[in-house]
Amino acid sequence: MRVNGVDLEVRTSGPEAGVPVVLLHGFPLGLELWEPQIAALEGRYRVVAYDARGHGKSGPGEGPFAFEDYVDDLLGVLDTLIIERAVVVGLSMGGYVALRFAEREAKRVRALVLADTKSDADGDAAKLKRAGGLRLLRAGGSKAFAESSLRTLLSHEALQGRPEVVAKVRGMIEACPAAGIGGALVAMAGRTDTTGWLEKIAVPVLVLAGEKDALTPPSDAKAMVARIPGSRYVEIPRAGHLSNLEDPAAFNEALLGFLAGLPATK
Ligand code: MLT
Repeated sequence: MRVNGVDLEVRTSGPEAGVPVVLLHGFPLGLELWEPQIAALEGRYRVVAYDARGHGKSGPGEGPFAFEDYVDDLLGVLDTLIIERAVVVGLSMGGYVALRFAEREAKRVRALVLADTKSDADGDAAKLKRAGGLRLLRAGGSKAFAESSLRTLLSHEALQGRPEVVAKVRGMIEACPAAGIGGALVAMAGRTDTTGWLEKIAVPVLVLAGEKDALTPPSDAKAMVARIPGSRYVEIPRAGHLSNLEDPAAFNEALLGFLAGLPATK
């Protein structure tokens, strides 16, 4: 799908008449992250997943881009598919996009699922870490970036005992072009802070976090829950940052339960 001058890899499945659910992956991964959720949802929901620009099979586009471009891309995907309102599910960077999209395009959001993410923008330490990531990319490309990211993306348990999960995550990162990873680092460093808007959210919200998430720990999730009216919190025991991949059964149970409880209105 060509959106905002970029070719995006988009996967849609499930009944056209089903409630639309859009899945936004984390950094630097791809729509494959959501395979366990796509399988669980597509029997009943209209599922849309895509590789963010510069990730997986989606091109990075011409020249520099801002975090807001990820938000424009989501709007473009929904417009192209003629989806008026969707449940927006975002993990980590996908959660940053979901939050900013809901702030900017409130009418297009039916409900929000925020997994292993936070509303705060990057502080100075995080910005300097992004600069370190750019150095690493220049020196060793996506392969070196994958090696260093795995340690923080996955729990110790998964790193030690789940070689298939490690291989899947490594494969997704290595499939991202260095230009896309670098673009995302710069874009994320420049994103806005959505914390001040959380208390104005007027749609149902589920917040999920892996107990062992080292990047956006449960404390970040709980801080959002304390501000979002009526939001629900589910912690995934033992899981790391990619809680949907480390424990798909627990993640899907929470997600399906939340979706089943949404009001019937379109
Ligand atoms: C992600 O998983 O999307 C990243 O860890 C987010 C970030 O680097 O801030």
